Amino acid sequence: MGAVSAFSLNRTIAGLALGALLLTGCGSSLDENGGNGSGDGRSDGTVKIGLLVPLSGVYAPIGEDLRDGFQLYLDEHDGKLGGRDVELVTADEGEGPQTGVPAAQKLVTQDRVTAVAGVVNSATALGLRDFFDESEKPLLIANAGADDITGTRKSDYVWRTSFSNGKVSAALGPTVAEEAEGSVYLIAADYAAGKEMVAGFRKTFEAAGGKVAGEKYTPFGTTQDFQPYLSAIRKSGAKAVFAFYAGAEAVSFVKQYKQFGLAGRTPLYGTGFLTEGGVLAAQGTAAVGVKTSLHYSTQLDSARNKEFVDAYTEKAGKSPTVYAVQGYDTAGVLDTALAEASGDSGKALVEALRGIGSINSPRGTWKFDADHNAEQTYYLREVRAEAGTAVNTVLGELG
Ligand code: BEZ
Repeated sequence: MGAVSAFSLNRTIAGLALGALLLTGCGSSLDENGGNGSGDGRSDGTVKIGLLVPLSGVYAPIGEDLRDGFQLYLDEHDGKLGGRDVELVTADEGEGPQTGVPAAQKLVTQDRVTAVAGVVNSATALGLRDFFDESEKPLLIANAGADDITGTRKSDYVWRTSFSNGKVSAALGPTVAEEAEGSVYLIAADYAAGKEMVAGFRKTFEAAGGKVAGEKYTPFGTTQDFQPYLSAIRKSGAKAVFAFYAGAEAVSFVKQYKQFGLAGRTPLYGTGFLTEGGVLAAQGTAAVGVKTSLHYSTQLDSARNKEFVDAYTEKAGKSPTVYAVQGYDTAGVLDTALAEASGDSGKALVEALRGIGSINSPRGTWKFDADHNAEQTYYLREVRAEAGTAVNTVLGELG
């Protein structure tokens, strides 16, 4: 299904489900604050937080990293946020809105959480926006980059601790325009995030004089054999490639790019999701030389990052990823907001979110912009083999 039709369907699913829950009384009725009354925590002072991440499907490893980052923050803070014990209710986002939207609605209307954090897939985020806006319940998006969420469809109740698709890819455009020795082929997963990653890249790339050799969107979640697409890239005569894939698709794409003989001849660029964490470990040396833009690398040379990398590696038994950092920072943001808020209503919590200043994160210092999006530094990274392990070496900051 194309991004636009999937988006309309998601809105319909969300709207119908919200209406049905309120009509049948399965959901709580709206309280005097316009909220659903489920934001008052429990009488013992415990605060209930919903964590919605994919635990199944192509993005399951991303969901696990995000959850592990969130959990690390809790472990480092005695299981408390805002000084209160936390009951974390985790739900499976699955592969998109068909599973993610009902799971989020259950967290709000049945589990009666104070806020929901998580959401990896842009299509899920777009499908959830109206539900959270209408039920006046805070949603802290800890990954999904759908541009409109902090753009034309911004909501008082939706905040993002991660990135927007167009921005993370736009950061790379001028570098590729300067480095590529000819036209560039654009390829991405066929859904909202893929389209926006390409659009954001294309804008700054063409503005800097870059030329596009061809553009292709591959079926999301089902493409395992990239050979026909790699063949089209070769035929196009492109001198470099820009790609957006994440999770299992990123592993297949980068490995097949090497097997097909393109690596080394046709430089591969992308947003950092292409070579992140477990994905990079699975790609191994096939990823060496791939250059990406992202707001994090385990290789960032700061005391804050080193401390985080050590703590996460010890707890999780693997290196952290951008997803783990986003989960960790989301817990930190909730900690501050809950401590500052006058009550647990959605209104009180978003008021406190508005007052949050700079966040001292392993990714570097960042803050929310006026549209509730993360304002942060993007880095240029290159995969290099260090002591036999592929890592995302930081080459510098992107303007
Ligand atoms: C997204 O759907 O927005 C997304 C998923 C994985 C990595 C980056 C973005």
